[in-house]
Amino acid sequence: MNTRTTRALAAALSLTATLAISGCSGSEDKASKPAPTVSGAFMPQPVNDKMAGAFMVIKNGSKTADKLTGVTSTLSDDLQIHETKDQKMQQVQSLDLPANGELKLERGGDHIMFMGLKSTPKVGDKVSIELRFEKADPVKVELEVKERTYTAQPPASTDGNAH
Ligand code: CU
Repeated sequence: MNTRTTRALAAALSLTATLAISGCSGSEDKASKPAPTVSGAFMPQPVNDKMAGAFMVIKNGSKTADKLTGVTSTLSDDLQIHETKDQKMQQVQSLDLPANGELKLERGGDHIMFMGLKSTPKVGDKVSIELRFEKADPVKVELEVKERTYTAQPPASTDGNAH
């Protein structure tokens, strides 16, 4: 009878130890979460102070899917996230940033839109924005103001005209 009690107690103790260890490694995982990175960020020179677009590629090196949920800038109080459907753009609450994937913000597709500008930037200017994510910490990005006809990607192939 004595042996039985001791064994049960030992089992209970080892279970507690296991739980404590796994709880510890869980918090370590969270700390090493890589932040999203941004490349090729630009703004075509705005025509006037009414609106401007922003384009870039956002890369998610993390194993966790995330979402772009908002954008802020000192150049405008109203930055929106837009998607393009049937050649018409519309505001959306967020855009998906897949795990180990990327979110392309490009002409004719998903993009960031400034509604109302406090000044009209010129080619060569820099515009700072901050991207907000559902899970990742905010990321600061510098947009380079480019010519209106500028596109980030060089034409990859000549047979890309078919839609
Ligand atoms: Cu738009």
